[in-house]
Amino acid sequence: MNKFRLLLCVLFLSNLFSCKQEERTLTVNSPNDSNKIIFNVSEEGRPNYMVSHNNTKVIDTSYMSFEVKDLPAFSGDFKIIGSTTSTSDDIWEMPWGEQLEVRNNYNELIVNLQEQSETNRELTIHFKVYDDGIAFRYEFPEQKNLQELLITDENTEFNLTGNHKVWWMPGDWDNYEHLYNETLFSEIDALSKQNHPDLNATYIPENAINTPATMKTDEGLYLSFHEADLTDYAGMTLKIDNANLNMVSELVGSERLGGKAKVQLPFNTPWRTIQIAEKAGDLIESKMILNLNDPNAIGDVSYFKPMKYVGIWWEMHIGKSTWDMEGSQDMNTYTTGKVGTSRHGATTENAKKYIDFASQNGIRGLLVEGWNTGWDQWINTDDREGVFDFITPYDDYDFDQVMLYAKDKGVEVIMHHETSAAPRTYEKQMGVAYDFMKENDINSVKTGYVGAIIPKGEYHHGQWMVNHYQRVLEEAAKMKIAVNAHEPIKATGKRRTYPNAISREGLRGQEFNAWASDGGNPPSHLPTVAFTRMLAGPIDFTPGAFNIKFDEYKKENQVNTTLAHQLALYVVIYSPVQMACDLPEHYILDGKVHPAFKFITDVGVDWQQTKVLEAEVGDYVTIARQERESLNWFVGGITDENKRTASLNFDFLEDGKSYEGTIYKDGLDADWNDNPQAYEIENIELTKDSKLDVELAPGGGFAISIIEKR
Ligand code: NOJ
Ligand code: CA
Repeated sequence: MNKFRLLLCVLFLSNLFSCKQEERTLTVNSPNDSNKIIFNVSEEGRPNYMVSHNNTKVIDTSYMSFEVKDLPAFSGDFKIIGSTTSTSDDIWEMPWGEQLEVRNNYNELIVNLQEQSETNRELTIHFKVYDDGIAFRYEFPEQKNLQELLITDENTEFNLTGNHKVWWMPGDWDNYEHLYNETLFSEIDALSKQNHPDLNATYIPENAINTPATMKTDEGLYLSFHEADLTDYAGMTLKIDNANLNMVSELVGSERLGGKAKVQLPFNTPWRTIQIAEKAGDLIESKMILNLNDPNAIGDVSYFKPMKYVGIWWEMHIGKSTWDMEGSQDMNTYTTGKVGTSRHGATTENAKKYIDFASQNGIRGLLVEGWNTGWDQWINTDDREGVFDFITPYDDYDFDQVMLYAKDKGVEVIMHHETSAAPRTYEKQMGVAYDFMKENDINSVKTGYVGAIIPKGEYHHGQWMVNHYQRVLEEAAKMKIAVNAHEPIKATGKRRTYPNAISREGLRGQEFNAWASDGGNPPSHLPTVAFTRMLAGPIDFTPGAFNIKFDEYKKENQVNTTLAHQLALYVVIYSPVQMACDLPEHYILDGKVHPAFKFITDVGVDWQQTKVLEAEVGDYVTIARQERESLNWFVGGITDENKRTASLNFDFLEDGKSYEGTIYKDGLDADWNDNPQAYEIENIELTKDSKLDVELAPGGGFAISIIEKR
């Protein structure tokens, strides 16, 4: 061994890379050795990987390559020129979240590759292996003669080992508001979901699925595929090869760019992630996606306080009132057509009504949609640039008066910015709009991007929009503003780095129950969402419908759950902002506030810890969460269209303490369709040793508040 090689060996002493000639395989295990990645470079120099869980293969040999414009692909001819390993184990705190402390414990392998031909280009792959899953990302390191790449395709394969059961939605470049489907992998047919009549912008170019996509193997192992830290890159869908049980990354494109992503070197792609769990509930408890993101980059976010809110919102969706003053913009998928009489929802008087209800029932926030001019031409036209300015209220909405009234009643107003998918207008107006918010002590904004993106050729989930959503977060952070985006880019754990990204939609929300032509969200929707979309991050689902059928406004639509199921969602679906979506008058029963509303008043929105008590993807889920500060516990359980008995034990409670439990559950004959509003409330004493069976109706649920007796 010559001196130089000896020196290299010393330098790499702690590395897996031995100094043997032509090392082609490297492995890295998770801290408890359950998960393992084997990385390999084939004889032709093609990088590939395999994943196993407890010595059973879960991903078979899967190749990794990139196609780039005007240059040869990054695909073969590679050799390992170096590698390092390290271990990390630390704990960080969430400013708000499902739990206070998060442990970040993984083993890392970094592999440096170089092409052997004269191009000599370099590519580095980072692998992180956790006990709850694996992740890897590509790095295009700084190198000679290569400053920029236009990536036309990333081809990361995920070669499955069986025909798993999959919960999937189509890989739509513009929309995450599809229902989940439960099929075998071989039966995935995303193209059959094209042109959904209720989606304002939708583009499904091939048989691909969106992430998170969750699977269950015949052996009962759960896998969920997603990405973490999506920054300056295009969102990833997964192209399906039904016959070969193989998936390959398919980035969202841009006709304007003529490719998928333009990147400046050095560049890191997002992490490609696979959560691996033996119990369905462990998928929900995993914090791997968050851990893969950088720590907080914006400092203190105490200007945002987790809260429940009411709003002038559901009434437009069910058609009681309109966003615009002329009376044309109520729902049926945002139709236009003059109705004549003004039924404007956002009036001073109506806002005061909601403020009164909020202040009397322990709800902190108020959202008002349709307060600003522009709603008469926000949709169903290509001419949407410059429609909204985000500072001019309608004549019948006295902005200052509403702000004063809210302040007086201790209610915090949440701003609403519907951009109508014209991000260039929004970027122009953003500064003025945020100044206006701050002048009025408003600390959070709900944004919206309904419609096809202007300019044409861009899609909601492409690189150009990823960068727009990022700019919004950064500008908002500078102004100490928290953002709840609708029609967003998917959550990829960025809330760790930008904790002003408080919540987002990015799924079929409650609104579909108000107007969808396909009958709305079936009872299995949220028992599926909990194990798919929710793995990505907080959801502004807007639960809390009490008037389930709202026949007064719409005969043909309804919420497809029981009332108790709606209550359970405050615990099951995590978000630091939770709406009580129904109209104030729908929360009144026999002249008084509905007794079940007490649960919404009491339930926490910021948690010390979270435990999944029972779970099966698509069928049912029961979650217990402990509120920060008060340390009270809240439990929520929901089921799909099948009734069931939840068997609970309370061993998460503290030893030697006694608690007052209030159970809100389905009434005896409750049923999501035939008798959705039947409920019962029961009080019992609970201790650590208590056991309890709760009956859930078809489409039903239950909620329990557990308050320590002092
Ligand atoms: C779509 C959002 O998801 C919904 O909540 C909102 O009411 C409309 N856009 C109008 O902005
Ligand atoms: Ca929406």
